[in-house]
Amino acid sequence: MNKPSDATLVIIPTYNELENLPLIVGRVRSAVPEVDVLVVDDNSPDGTGAKADEMAADDGRIHVLHREGKGGLCGAYIAGFRWGLEREYTVLCEMDADGSHAPEQLQLLLDEIDQGADLVIGSRYVDGGKVVNWPKKRWALSKGGNLYISLALGADLSDMTAGYRAYRRELLESLDLDELSNAGYIFQVDLAWRAVQGGFDVREVPVTFTEREIGESKLDGSFVKDSLFEVTKWGLRHRGGQVRELSKELGKLAAYEFKGMRKRYNF
Ligand code: GDD
Ligand code: MN
Repeated sequence: MNKPSDATLVIIPTYNELENLPLIVGRVRSAVPEVDVLVVDDNSPDGTGAKADEMAADDGRIHVLHREGKGGLCGAYIAGFRWGLEREYTVLCEMDADGSHAPEQLQLLLDEIDQGADLVIGSRYVDGGKVVNWPKKRWALSKGGNLYISLALGADLSDMTAGYRAYRRELLESLDLDELSNAGYIFQVDLAWRAVQGGFDVREVPVTFTEREIGESKLDGSFVKDSLFEVTKWGLRHRGGQVRELSKELGKLAAYEFKGMRKRYNF
């Protein structure tokens, strides 16, 4: 019997991932040999795009989409989704190139799709999920941010910012991809939230996220503030007073913590 995951495309966006690309693609090819890979490269100055072409020439399962310049992760995924939707793929996945998302765990996401999910999120914060090689502070920020997001939106998900995902084609077809919030990585939350609001079956499976060992992260600090602001707006629209109370309480808590820190560190 045919399963949706029989025609799966794994989209891997790259910007300066020359060393990581062969490693990640090699892992995908051996862990899940029957899926296709699409590398979406934004004209990386380090030559990642040319490397991707070389790999594609040797392997019919590897495809490359070149974009003109660094246009952000959201734009890269939208271009990748469109590429996949124009073809016969029934499942489209997101995976980072830097090894944070283990291809060896992709089957967990695909199984859940085959059992009826429309969107599966590889989650760091459900039972059994893990983060490897993050300082405590970064973990707390991400976990806390996600907690705030799910409370503000009233969504029963614990890792809405996660970037390891599998989408059933029909879900992506039903969304207006041009409307997504492009700032930083907030589009991940936006996509999950639209799926929840659209009544789609959204599930999480535990994964182990391992911080990159090679190359640099493209995330900048403003992301956190901008994202939380954006999510608060959506929450206010959706849940009104409840969220207003929640953000007031969080504000108070933050002020209290801040006072304590000032006392402790004298500033
Ligand atoms: N084509 C393209 N264009 N790729 C990009 C761009 C871009 O402008 N910016 C980043 N990438 C690629 C990177 O090369 C990498 O493969 C992937 O996107 C993730 O980039 P990182 O810089 O490693 O992101 P991160 O580790 O900070 O963020 C990850 O975790 C976040 C949540 O904690 C990602 O999975 C995010 O999607 C996720 O929200
Ligand atoms: Mn990363």
